[in-house]
Amino acid sequence: MNLLKSKGLITEVIDLAEVDSTNQYALSAGRPGLLVRSRVQTAGRGRRGRTWYSSKGENVYMTVTLTPPEERYPIIAGIAVRAAIESLLPNQSVAIKWPNDIVISGKKVCGILCEARGAITAIGIGVNVNQQAWPGELEHRAISLKQVSQRNFSIDEVTEVIAENLCRWIEVFRSRGFGPIRDEFLCHGMLEGYDVYNDKGHRCTIIDITIDGHLVIDVDGKRNILVHEPVSLGWDKDV
Ligand code: BTN
Repeated sequence: MNLLKSKGLITEVIDLAEVDSTNQYALSAGRPGLLVRSRVQTAGRGRRGRTWYSSKGENVYMTVTLTPPEERYPIIAGIAVRAAIESLLPNQSVAIKWPNDIVISGKKVCGILCEARGAITAIGIGVNVNQQAWPGELEHRAISLKQVSQRNFSIDEVTEVIAENLCRWIEVFRSRGFGPIRDEFLCHGMLEGYDVYNDKGHRCTIIDITIDGHLVIDVDGKRNILVHEPVSLGWDKDV
C-alpha cells in the first residue's frame, strides 16, 4: 500500500493477520501517522461500549492515528468515509446518521469509533465489505458493499479509498476550517423526517450543526445546542 505512504498524514502501515482491536493496538503504539489494519478482530470495539462484529477476511477493520487532538474528528471522519463509500458505489445514495454511521437503504454499512489517549486520537473505521450473512439482530440493521452492488470488492482497494478520503478531508479541515465539513454534513446527513430523541428521550428535530461541531436541535419549539452526543435515532434509540 505505497500510495498511502505518500499521503502525508499516514507515514506507516501496520498490517496484522489478527488483533483484539485495531484501535487498541494503535493507541498502545501511541504515535501519529499510523494506519493499522487487520483481517480479523477478536474484540472489535463499537461506540457506546458495544462490540463490533468482526468476521475474518470479509471486511475492513482499520485505524488511523492523528495528533493534535480535535473533538470534531468524528464528524470529519464521517463525511470523509461517506464520500469514499459513495465513490465505490456511484449509483447509491449513501447517508450519514449522526454522528458518523454510514447508512445505505436504512442499514449500516460502516461504523466509526474515535478514541483519544493523551495527544493521540485513533480513528477506527469498520466497513462491511463482502459479508453476506449476519448474526441475529444485525440481519436487519447491517448491510455490506457486496449486498448493495452484487459484486466482490478488494479489501485493499476499499482501505485505500477510505484512507485517501480521510487524509483529503483532514487536510481540508486544517487548511479551510470546519465550514466545508459542516456543509458536507448538512448535505448528506439524515437530518429531516427522522424520529430523533435527545438524552432525556424527548422527540426533537435537528436544525443545524455549529462550527464547533455541535448539533442544534429543536425540542418543542426551543432551540438547543447539544454539546455532547446525546441524540439517537433508528437503532440507537433504545440505548
Ligand atoms: C460503531 O459502533 O458504529 C463504531 C464501530 C467502529 C468499528 C471499528 S473496526 C476498526 C476499529 N477498531 C475497533 O475496535 N473499532 C473500530
